[in-house]
Parts: sequence; structure tokens; C-alpha cells
Amino acid sequence: MSPPTASTPRRLIWLPGSYSVQFVQRTITDRRVAVVVGSSRPTRICPGIAAWIREALQESLPSSLSGSVRYEILDLAQVGLPLLDEPLMPALGQYEHEHTKAWSRTVNGYDGFIFVFPQYNWGYPAILKNALDCLYQEWTGKPVSFATYGTRGGGRGARQVQGVFAGLHMRELYGHLEIVITINDVDSDWQVKSVDEVLAPYGRQLRAVGGQMLEAFGLPGGPGMRMTRPLRAVMVALRRARIVVGGALVPRRHPRRAKAIG
Ligand SMILES: Cc1cc2nc3c(=O)[nH]c(=O)nc-3n(C[C@H](O)[C@H](O)[C@H](O)COP(=O)(O)O)c2cc1C
Repeated sequence: MSPPTASTPRRLIWLPGSYSVQFVQRTITDRRVAVVVGSSRPTRICPGIAAWIREALQESLPSSLSGSVRYEILDLAQVGLPLLDEPLMPALGQYEHEHTKAWSRTVNGYDGFIFVFPQYNWGYPAILKNALDCLYQEWTGKPVSFATYGTRGGGRGARQVQGVFAGLHMRELYGHLEIVITINDVDSDWQVKSVDEVLAPYGRQLRAVGGQMLEAFGLPGGPGMRMTRPLRAVMVALRRARIVVGGALVPRRHPRRAKAIG
């Protein structure tokens, strides 16, 4: 049997040895999800957090999908885009500069995105806004979630980036992470002492986000309930109210809120 493809998600097949014709959900394979490193300071802590998240998401995949869904690090500092310098607006897709064309190819190569970034002055890093603004159609319709961090979890930066995702018509998943990192968690150089200790309390939320990503791809192994339109509307309303459902949403009480200061 030829490998499953995205164009043939379902197929009527005869299963040898059985006496019935069964409708079998075929697997849509080879999905790439970028775990985007969204800060660029020379002493940034973002790469360690993003690496932990990438590994946890990859490990959370059902074994049947572990070879075909790949979470990959995409470091904006390494992409090295200049500040938006295209003469035409990116929504037109007519890029003049090779660096924008290369960024377009990179983003087109991914099916979904998990952005990892700190809160900067109640917003989010300029490098991330620039990376988003340099393109348009490459983002549209793709599933997206994110993990912010800060002494209170980075919720204010989260609210801002959600508006941008909506403006780009991305498909935001129901859940995201707001990771509390306080002065107790870092050394004198503001490097995280134990990423594992800081992030482990968010494991359940992260697995829920991974499940929602699979659901967005139409793959099995998602949260286990099909999102009908009314249910989706309820979930979106609950998310806006920041109410937890099955650990899938940002909780009103933060896993590490007790440790937060400042
Ligand atoms: C420009 C700047 C602004 C910051 N603003 C906030 C803030 O609004 N809230 C917060 O909790 N932490 C803030 N911080 C502290 C960051 O959470 C902390 O420095 C973190 O390590 C930044 O992530 P990075 O190391 O990956 O750049 C800010 C840090 C910088 C450099």
C-alpha cells in the first residue's frame, strides 16, 4: 500500500482476513511544527526553554505519529532578518529581497507554530513582531500556539500577540502557556538554574496544546473530543474568560503563581 498522503485522508479499503468493508481513517503524515525561539539577546534564556518545550511536545506524540510529526527549533536570531525593508506590503507576496524570499520558504515549510518568547515591557520582543510582519500568506490558516514567560507569566505580551495572530488569520489553538520565572529560578546572571524544575508543572498544559495541534491537523491522538462548531465557540469563550477545561486552557490559577513575585 502506498504511503498515506494529505490528499487522500480517507479511503474505502478491504481488510484481508475480515468479512466487512471498513472505512479507515488514513494518516496524514509528515507535519512539521516550528518551535520558534522568539528572543535574541546575547544572554537570552529562550533557547533552553524552547528546547525543553520542543522535546516535551515530540515525546508527547502517540508512537504511531512520532516519525511523521516533527517539532523543530526555529531560532529567529539565527534567521537574522533585517527590520522589514520590502517596498510592497507583504500581504501582496511580491518580495524583492532574497532574505524575505528565504524567510517565506522557511515559513512555508512548516504546518504549525509554537512561539516561545518573553514578555518585554508588557509586550513581546520586536524580533518576533518583525518576523511575523515580514510575511503574510505564509502564516494564514496555520495552527499556532505559544509559551510566554516572565515574573508573572507574560500574560500581557500574550494578549498582544494573540491580536497579531488574529490579524494574520492564523488558527490559534485553545491553549497556551504562561510560564512564571522569578528571581528564585535564576542565578546571578539571570540564567535559569533548572529548566526542568521550572517547566515540569506545565507538562499537562503542554500535552494538551500538542493534542490540539494534532486535532488541527486532523490526526488522531488529539484531546479526544471532536470540536463541533458550537463546542468550538464555547471553548473559545471559555478561553477568553481564562477558565480551565481539562487542563487544556490557561488556568485562572497559575501552576507556579504561588512563587511569583514583582
Ligand atoms: C527589554 C526587557 C523588558 C522586560 N520586561 C519584562 C516584563 O514586562 N515583565 C517581566 O516579567 N519581565 C520582563 N523582563 C525580564 C525578562 O522576563 C527576563 O529578562 C527574561 O530572561 C527575558 O527573556 P530572554 O532572556 O529570553 O530575553 C524584561 C527584560 C528585558 C530585557
